Amino acid sequence: MFESLQAVPADPILGLSIAYKNDENPSKVDLGVGVYKTETGETPILKSVALAQRQRIETETTKTYIGSAGDAGFNDKLAKLVFGEGNPVLARQCTVSTPGGTGALRMAAEFIKRCNPGATIWVTDPTWANHNALFNAAGIQVKSYRYFDKDNSSVDFAGMMDALQSVPKGDVVLLHACCHNPSGADLNQAQWLAFAELAKEKGFTPLIDMAYQGFGDGLDEDAFGPRTLAATLPEFLLTTSGSKNFGLYRERIGALTLVGENSTRVAILSSVIQNVARCIYSMPPAHGAAIIDIVLGSTELTELWKTELAEMRGRIHELRSLLVDKLHARQDKKDFSFITKQYGMFSFLGISKEQVHRLKDEFSVYMVDSSRMNVAGINHSNVDYLADAITKVL
Ligand code: LMR
Repeated sequence: MFESLQAVPADPILGLSIAYKNDENPSKVDLGVGVYKTETGETPILKSVALAQRQRIETETTKTYIGSAGDAGFNDKLAKLVFGEGNPVLARQCTVSTPGGTGALRMAAEFIKRCNPGATIWVTDPTWANHNALFNAAGIQVKSYRYFDKDNSSVDFAGMMDALQSVPKGDVVLLHACCHNPSGADLNQAQWLAFAELAKEKGFTPLIDMAYQGFGDGLDEDAFGPRTLAATLPEFLLTTSGSKNFGLYRERIGALTLVGENSTRVAILSSVIQNVARCIYSMPPAHGAAIIDIVLGSTELTELWKTELAEMRGRIHELRSLLVDKLHARQDKKDFSFITKQYGMFSFLGISKEQVHRLKDEFSVYMVDSSRMNVAGINHSNVDYLADAITKVL
């Protein structure tokens, strides 16, 4: 049976890490996979997380099963982090822990199939490379809608709204809450309000992918989209991730939130989504959820975590300006100032695939073929080398 299989090409994002690791050029620069890095190129465990982890190890008394919904403390605190303490939507939502944000998206896909097996998921053009693969693997039809305007390096909001006019009730529209992956171009508040009204009018169901809360403008600012939908719509889905803002990448902790019309409906949704989990992985990992529960349950650790998150966010903002200054000092063929107007870890450099390959082959600079770069991979030691390399391939 196994002989029927062909090897699958390396993942367009994760494959870059392997190629980078095997590259012996001492000047190599990794702008590939979306992982935060410090000035010295490390991805450290956050101090708040390390302290919570120690506490967890000292106080954990059992490794018994956790249940399909995962950690109730984490689920509760995460929903409050997204929607804000006291938000009335908290009474009409259920949140379940999942194996990472990717696991949350797969759970969302399975849940959508239970609601409407014929649903199409509409994703931004472009979107995170794995969205298409993930939803296709779940057997859901994926279509894209206009989102990023390459000529202006910003959201084509009129084009987006126009495209969404034809999405019917029963279909799902995926939108990134903040720090759009791969473009870094986000909706502003007025645009979120208009999107929410359109969803209400047309009856399609939003699925908000929120993998970067706190990496854009701030924890509350980045949650403007989900909070607006909560105030406007009876139903939507939301996926979150503890990979980036808590730096818990390998612990695989994320969550799926289902917002329903009322608490009676939500009780049904909760039973369905737990059954979905039972049929895939039975129960989510507990360790990352417990750490986040401890951090968010302690005023001191929450303050420390917020400070660390602000540091990461601030550093990325600075690196954006630093790169643009270095590029503008070297050439005037291309205006890169759009990079400073974008949010989160990613931006498109706006160069061709051939130029991206030259960066890799001639300079050992790694980024996704689309020219998506992880800004967090830049530092004061590599920025001149990087700017020289980009200038040479322009
Ligand atoms: C990325 O987009 O680089 C990250 O979200 C990591 C991943 O799993 O692709």
